[in-house]
Amino acid sequence: MYTAFSQLFQNDLTYDPQTMTWLVTGGAGYIGSHIVESFMHAGTPVAVFDDLSTGYRSFVPDDVPLVKGSITDPEAVGRALDEHAITGIVHLAGWKYAGVSVQRPLHFYGENVTGMQVLLAQASERGVNRFVLSSSASWYGTPDAEIVTEDAPPRPESPYGETKVISEWLLRDLARINPDLRQTSLRYFNVVGSGPPELADHSPHNLFPKVFRAVTAGEQPVVFGDGYPTPDGSCVRDYVHVVDLADAHVTAARLLDEGGNCAPAYNVGRGEGSSVFEVLDAIRSVTGIDFENDVQPRRPGDPARIVGSAELIARDMDWRAEFGLDAMASSAWAAWQRQLELYGGPPPDGGFGLIA
Ligand SMILES: NC(=O)c1ccc[n+]([C@@H]2O[C@H](COP(=O)([O-])OP(=O)(O)OC[C@H]3O[C@@H](n4cnc5c(N)ncnc54)[C@H](O)[C@@H]3O)[C@@H](O)[C@H]2O)c1
Repeated sequence: MYTAFSQLFQNDLTYDPQTMTWLVTGGAGYIGSHIVESFMHAGTPVAVFDDLSTGYRSFVPDDVPLVKGSITDPEAVGRALDEHAITGIVHLAGWKYAGVSVQRPLHFYGENVTGMQVLLAQASERGVNRFVLSSSASWYGTPDAEIVTEDAPPRPESPYGETKVISEWLLRDLARINPDLRQTSLRYFNVVGSGPPELADHSPHNLFPKVFRAVTAGEQPVVFGDGYPTPDGSCVRDYVHVVDLADAHVTAARLLDEGGNCAPAYNVGRGEGSSVFEVLDAIRSVTGIDFENDVQPRRPGDPARIVGSAELIARDMDWRAEFGLDAMASSAWAAWQRQLELYGGPPPDGGFGLIA
């Protein structure tokens, strides 16, 4: 059980923080708020830029400055960089969900690609030369390999995935003409769990919140397909605890600050897969709710298995995921229960439920 947030983070992340302030765009969101906590734990000054479209004011600690504005607004972005003397940026602000992006490609390109372009332009003008991009395993689409490595070619299967590929390319192209720009992209796999239970994943499309919603309502969670060529027939994914993921950002930021070399992109996952049935077993054991699975036919386009190699980030940054499936399930459950206390029912979903 999670007791104190600071105990969760690896203790070797402290380094001289005096000369750098990192801006976390999207820092009021699920993952960004954990990255802010991780920076604070490392003793690095941090500020947040967020329009609160899917994030929450309460996710930003009172002693962390929040600049409210859209990443597509050059004036607001420039003001945030100036007001807080920013030296490095972790960029997460944007929209996720591949399925929604198919219905709303203009919106996703506007938020994710135009936003990236505006942010890079404002950062370049001011000589802000350290940049960590939040990318995604959606770069790979449906990988051929059992364990996909970073050199696999991009094969995004949705406008959302395309915006991540283009964002990585924008960063790469800028680095080609600016040798001072130190940057990398972190390709997240399936991010789950919570540090402090207040920082919950509200996403209505993610597996853990979906299962919690179902089982607390006395319903059976739906499993799409049990005939895949995997050990138990259900789909296999690479789940990573959000606290581990947050630490990976601070580790990357430290490497960039210290002048170390980063590869253009790193997978951030555990390098091993868990099946949907294994996740449901972990949830069953953590919640104590003895639910049945509602197995439905496969959904078109769901790959049997997506697992990323975690070797490159271990080699270059000495970063490895610490937390396993039980810690992910127990912390996610604690966060879900906290949301029930706070909201008296299932938590608000940041508006995605309206457009899914
Ligand atoms: N959750 C996952 O499993 C996962 C996996 C791979 C990649 N990612 C990426 O991680 C990032 C964060 O994801 P999350 O799960 O924390 O989502 P989230 O929706 O909780 O966070 C996104 C944050 O960005 C803010 N935002 C959105 N549009 C903005 C804009 N135009 N200007 C300023 N702020 C804006 C939102 O208010 C929110 O606080 C996203 O870029 C997402 O694509 C997430």
